[in-house]
Amino acid sequence: EVIDIRELGKQGYFTYDPGFVSTASCTSKITFIDGKNGVLLYRGYPIDQLATKCDYLQVCYLLFKGELPTKEQYQEFVHRVKHHTLVHTQMESLFQAFRRDSHPMAVLCGVAGALSAFYHDKLDIYDPEHRELTAVRLIAKMPTLAAMSYKYSIGHPFVYPRNDLSYTANFLHMMFSTPCEEYKVNPIVEKALDRIFTLHADHEQNASTSSVRLAGSSGANPYACIAAGVASLWGPAHGGANEACLRMLEEIGSVDRIPEYIARAKDKNDPFRLFGFGHRVYKTFDPRAIVMRDTCHEVLDALHIDNNPLLKIATELEKIALNDEYFVTRHLYPNVDFYSGIILNAIGIPTSMFTVIFALARTIGWITHWNEMHTNEDFRIGRPRQVYTGKEKRDVKPFRSRN
Ligand code: ACO
Repeated sequence: EVIDIRELGKQGYFTYDPGFVSTASCTSKITFIDGKNGVLLYRGYPIDQLATKCDYLQVCYLLFKGELPTKEQYQEFVHRVKHHTLVHTQMESLFQAFRRDSHPMAVLCGVAGALSAFYHDKLDIYDPEHRELTAVRLIAKMPTLAAMSYKYSIGHPFVYPRNDLSYTANFLHMMFSTPCEEYKVNPIVEKALDRIFTLHADHEQNASTSSVRLAGSSGANPYACIAAGVASLWGPAHGGANEACLRMLEEIGSVDRIPEYIARAKDKNDPFRLFGFGHRVYKTFDPRAIVMRDTCHEVLDALHIDNNPLLKIATELEKIALNDEYFVTRHLYPNVDFYSGIILNAIGIPTSMFTVIFALARTIGWITHWNEMHTNEDFRIGRPRQVYTGKEKRDVKPFRSRN
């Protein structure tokens, strides 16, 4: 049920809602979540159907344009995206300014924001065509920037995009080809990664999307707003959970150590939490986690990876947590990040790139929300209020008499 309090706001009332647990900041036609029943729809289509029946670029088209593309529309869209995969050659020097061993998310945060310097003067954010071009540029360039961030972090030369490959195969090529050897893309790996992109494409007003909307609400350059999204996503309570979850599974190391970590997660004096568990909106299984778990089994089978120790620990951890009163009473279930790391690990993606991949995939969600915000009739600059708890009014004493 929605209570519209705009009239009360004009009379000077406002709500106190830390963490925006029960505050809608906008209306949106993009993504629907029913957290009680574990439902996630993009533009009305269930996430499991999109993940299994469409590729990521079809899903990008759907999110931004509102409908799935026809064959012709799809071909034209793919062609358009491929036209924009290169980044300006000056970007290469920008990378050189980062510390040699920088985390790829730190680099991505900087270089995504730097796009604003390349696309600013001629950008009219009030023109729908300019907004669409911005979306196409971002979809096309994020894989290039993401792969460059990785190559830089390991001290390897950048690999340029190959437009004869699919969107996802091209990303793998830029990640793993070297001047000495062309990486052969395994179709199983390509399909699994493409599905991971789709599962991360949008999730309504989470912290990073809200950051992009709030930054954009002032009329700021959209590429700079995307950098705000990347920054927000990085935290372990949000997109950084996939990296943290895999590191946690590695640290647990064996099934017999799970009870120790379950006890730590329940201990209120220990800041440790089970990464990949719990969600602000889902109070049952995250529907993305279900597709992710199935995909995880499919990929490991197809790649003939038997007895994966991380999967064994994850499966057992899930079983124990789902039967533990602490997790049951708090409705804590596996979220999208619980199984994604195991798939990414199995297909050879380094752990430091997990959140970068999330950012790449979520860029379409961020820019679609930014675009929608600029078309909504109820759009105003975002300006939350606060409940002041500081000192009452008092007078400044002259400096010499303060002791
Ligand atoms: N492990 C242990 N306890 C947990 C966990 C967890 N993963 N998640 C929540 N809880 C507990 C809290 O301690 C709290 O207990 P209390 O009522 O006794 O104080 C209760 O469950 C409610 O948790 P909140 O922190 O109030 O829930 P909130 O909605 O603010 O947080 C969040 C949601 C951040 C996702 C949280 O569940 C968490 O930190 N999970 C681990 C990190 C993670 O996996 N993040 C990815 C989320 S999905 C995404 O962003 C793509």
